[in-house]
Amino acid sequence: MSTIRLGDEAPNFTAKSTEGEINFHEWLGDSWGILFSHPADYTPVCTTELGTVAKYKDEFDKRNVKVVALSVDGLDSHKGWVLDINETQNTTVNFPIIADEDHKVSELYDMIHPNANNKLTVRSVFVVDPDKKVKLIITYPASTGRNFDELLRVIDSLQLTAYHKVATPANWKSGDDCVVSPSIESKDIPDIFPKGYTEIKPYLRMTPQPDSK
Ligand code: BEZ
Repeated sequence: MSTIRLGDEAPNFTAKSTEGEINFHEWLGDSWGILFSHPADYTPVCTTELGTVAKYKDEFDKRNVKVVALSVDGLDSHKGWVLDINETQNTTVNFPIIADEDHKVSELYDMIHPNANNKLTVRSVFVVDPDKKVKLIITYPASTGRNFDELLRVIDSLQLTAYHKVATPANWKSGDDCVVSPSIESKDIPDIFPKGYTEIKPYLRMTPQPDSK
């Protein structure tokens, strides 16, 4: 296991999943990706998380994001659990769940934190861009279910800042004003941001979201 940092290439792997064997990079293709881990099958918080992700499929599709979950239980266990998730969360799980019984992927991605639990994965999230670069890493404890609205918000920010010379301020959400990148000189702003800008301080310049109507 080596440390994975933002900007690194997401390590590739081949693994068994509920939708067949996955080669991570091939499976991603030209999409953005989310790889997220779960402590264990048949646990309450994980059940609500996977149901929530299934219901957000349209939101992930709109953003060209493919989602894959992981836990260290086996395929038969995953398949039985999926039936429970579908039943209790009123949805249909529509993404693969990796069966990482040998901990190959969880160790590659440092998803087991022994001082929290030496057998189960924590709630890790990795967002990967179409160049297979790691763009976001978040780690939650087992007892806290993730906020998938926040994950969509960060993906909106990542996609915006990948294609425009802006950053996004605190609590930004799609449609709000953005921060002009510090690398842009004020004299160049009118050409780059025809919607205009406000200079609050020379280092703090705001502009309407470049790609919003
Ligand atoms: C859960 O998913 O509900 C859970 C898993 C491990 C520890 C605590 C909660």
